[in-house]
Amino acid sequence: MTLRIDGKLLADEIVEEVSKEVADFTAKYDVVPGLAVVLVGADPASSVYVRNKVKRAVQAGLNSIEHYLPADVDQKTLDDLISSLNQDDSVHGILVQLPLPSHLSENRIIEAISPEKDVDGFHPQNVGKLSTGQQSLIPCTPLGCMIMLERQLGDLSGKKAVVVGRSNIVGKPMASLLLKANCTVTIVHSRTKDIEATCAEADILIAAVGQPKLITESWVKPGAVVIDVGINAIEVDGKRTLVGDVDYDSVLSKVSAITPVPGGVGPMTIACLMKNTLTAAQHQLS
Ligand code: GUN
Repeated sequence: MTLRIDGKLLADEIVEEVSKEVADFTAKYDVVPGLAVVLVGADPASSVYVRNKVKRAVQAGLNSIEHYLPADVDQKTLDDLISSLNQDDSVHGILVQLPLPSHLSENRIIEAISPEKDVDGFHPQNVGKLSTGQQSLIPCTPLGCMIMLERQLGDLSGKKAVVVGRSNIVGKPMASLLLKANCTVTIVHSRTKDIEATCAEADILIAAVGQPKLITESWVKPGAVVIDVGINAIEVDGKRTLVGDVDYDSVLSKVSAITPVPGGVGPMTIACLMKNTLTAAQHQLS
């Protein structure tokens, strides 16, 4: 029997736990942890993400601060905003929604955010700490994937994990986390030879490439646990539908557990952002 891992339910539990800890934190320090989210332009997917984040922040008892900037904002204005958020004691976490319009430098913005407030875990200091196994703020999507995997499998030691995709946001930090959990880790990508055969050896398969339904039945090992990070909008019978990087129906009867799209990784990413904001606030005040 294949288990459908319910990311929405698990995310609800995490936000509930965070809200209790936020209440304790507020009682102790007389400070409400604050999360600032910056959205440049009005990309539809990014706007949905930011809207959901605000909803969850309220549920978690956090102070949500939003900054909406026009798509043609100049780099200096954005730099100045980050600088003022870095200095603002009521802000404990800062997230600049990516991608940014092409005239702005993502690297420059990521590096401008104070590493202590970098709830995305994208700052080179946090990336370096994660890859050397030190305590750091961990990117939300890979963190959410790890929570689901550990719930499902317990100890991950010795498992063969294959990560499909090498992005800075998901693939690379995911590989670091799996390695830290004692998995044997392979990253495959667009230039990998015989990608399908490598995936078919995985006990844990993480799909994070952004290609609708790329992964089908022949790509998965019987009994594998599959985590689908992809969120791809496609047209089915003239209707816009969200699908993952995994062809869910094709692999379903072969795997032991799988995350659906939507309702899998997506809600967990947002829940982990709330968790990271609390963690950042705790480190800043203790
Ligand atoms: N765009 C897609 N995923 C993410 C994320 O996890 N953080 C930020 N800041 N932007 C994203």
